[in-house]
Formats: sequence, structure tokens, C-alpha cells
Amino acid sequence: MKIGVLTAGGDAPGLNAALRAIGRSVLAEGHELIGIHDGWAGLVGGLKGSSLQRPDLANILREGGTRLGSIRYNLDEPEGGRQAVLDTITRELDAVIAIGGDGTLQVAQWLAERGAPIVGVGKTLDNDLSHTEYCIGFDSAVSIVAEALDRLHTTAASHHRIMVVETMGRSTGWVATMGGLAGGADFIAIPEVPVTLDDITAHVRKRHERGSASSIVVIAEGVQLTSIGDHERANVHTDGIGRVQMARRSVGATLADHLSDTTGIETRFSVLGHLQRGGSPTAIDRIWATRVGIAAADLVLAGKFGRMPSVRCAGVTDMPISDAISEVHRVPEELWQLAGRFF
Ligand code: F6P
Repeated sequence: MKIGVLTAGGDAPGLNAALRAIGRSVLAEGHELIGIHDGWAGLVGGLKGSSLQRPDLANILREGGTRLGSIRYNLDEPEGGRQAVLDTITRELDAVIAIGGDGTLQVAQWLAERGAPIVGVGKTLDNDLSHTEYCIGFDSAVSIVAEALDRLHTTAASHHRIMVVETMGRSTGWVATMGGLAGGADFIAIPEVPVTLDDITAHVRKRHERGSASSIVVIAEGVQLTSIGDHERANVHTDGIGRVQMARRSVGATLADHLSDTTGIETRFSVLGHLQRGGSPTAIDRIWATRVGIAAADLVLAGKFGRMPSVRCAGVTDMPISDAISEVHRVPEELWQLAGRFF
């Protein structure tokens, strides 16, 4: 079989570990592996990719980013991009493994419904796919947030300041919640739980009145703060697939200004941004990206298309791609409340 593999959407630590696992599995069975360049763009207007051999997969387990490249490529504008991808797959490949988040998996599902021999692998730093307990890159992002909080606690304490920390998280607050829990945040604002600037101010003020000399407030970039509507509208920048670049909404800066103006306490902010996406994967991301990579290769070799590996109860099983994108996996209220016991 001639098997293509691609990574699409935002990169994340662990993609190369998955690529290595997929490659080792399919090459060991005597199949050909094509590394498709730059996600779906590598399948529009013909196949753009290179043949991968075992030496190409050496020493990439610990490497961040993706060796294959990734572009946020809009297949729907102009129309016909998805059909062009389907045509290339039909003409040039016997199977495709698509590694990506909800956008990538929506395309994979569309292709599977039209008979394409495709298998998905869930990658999302935001951890917003359904019916799986693991997505490539999330654990690394949480570790980076936790380490950042460790560092910010000491400088916040030295200067008796409030530190606002903005994390990634377009429509879910998993990175903020888990990173905040691991790093001992004093408040966590996430898209799932409506909050106003005044609510956060009241909380921080109360902490300081009770004797806390410093506070760490974590905010996910996708939080809707109604009071910043005008600021947000004035700063809309979109990405390659027309989505608002969330970091440009500057919720962290807005919150820091508000806290400083209303409490009178010196406040600084840090936007962790793409630091959360770069660098080496954690051991957890290496292990689980390897396991789901192997499972994806097994699905291809078994001819089980339209499916993807799913991690449940510390084991790997598989599910239809459509399950992963059936709903947005949001932070449950109880988990946020649990984090709130330490606020
Ligand atoms: O979609 C995942 C994500 O990490 C979001 O949290 C973030 O808003 C976005 O990617 C940023 O991606 P880029 O800067 O590559 O467009």
C-alpha cells in the first residue's frame, strides 16, 4: 500500500512522535509511506510529499513541531478544495492518515463519507475533541503553563503584584484550568463559565483584603468579557481559515488594565502564546502520541477507515471520526469549581 500521512492545523508537541510510530509500523509491514507536505495543501492539485524511510524517522521522538509542515489551509474558499483533495487521494494513494484537530477531522469525516480510505488522529492543544481522554500536545501545553505560573508566583510575591496570565484556548478552557490547577492559580477565567471584569476584580480585592500580598489570575484567550466588545472589534485579525486570532483580542491586557485601575494594586500580564505550542513534548505526549500513532497505522492496515484512535481508561480503542467532532468537549463546571476551592 502507498500510505500518506499529514499534519494539519496548529502544530503541537508530540506530532513527530506520532509520525515516527506510524512510520515504523507501516514500513515494518513493507508498505510505502509518503509524508504529505503542509497538511491539506499537499493534496490540492496533485500530491506534494516525499517518501519517508526509517532514517527519516530517527531522532524525532523528542522533537517539537512537525517534520511534515502544517498550514491552516481553507479548502472551502474558493469552493472545490475538498473535492480536489479527494481526487488526489483517489488517484495517488491507497490510504491517508490525517493528524489534526476539529477542523482537520471535519475534512477527514467529509472525505470518509465519500469513500476515501482515511484514518484520523486527534491533535489539539485546546483538548476540545469528544470521546477521547487524550489529544496530542495538550499535556505539553499544561506543563508549560504550570512552569510559567511557578516562575510568575515568585516575582508576583516579591513585588506584591497581581499577575495576569493569558493561555491558549479558543472555545474551551482546558489549558487554563489544568495549567492553573497545577500551578496554583488564584483565579481562572475560562470560556465555559461566564464572568465579568468586575467579578474578577471583586474576587482579587477580597483576597488582598484577607491578607494575600499577590495574586495570579489565569485567563484563557477565548473568554468573552462583554465589557471589551469595542476593543475586540477594533482588533480583529483572522487566520488562514478565517477564524479570529484569539490572542489579538488581548483579554489578558484588558483584564490587567482593569485590575490595576480598579484595585490600585500594581498589575502585570504575560501572554504565553506560542510558547505553549513549541519545544519538546512531555513524556506523556511522547508515550500517548506513540500509542495513538501505532493504533492509527493498525486501523489502516486492518482497512478500518473513517475511524480514529480514542484513549479511554488508560487504553487505546477506536471510534468513528464523527464521534470526536460530534460536540465541543468543554471543561465541566465541577472541575472549574474544584479549581475554585484554591482561589
Ligand atoms: O486551535 C489551537 C490553537 O492553539 C488555539 O488555542 C489558538 O487560538 C490557535 O491555535 C492559534 O493558532 P495560530 O496562531 O497558528 O493561528
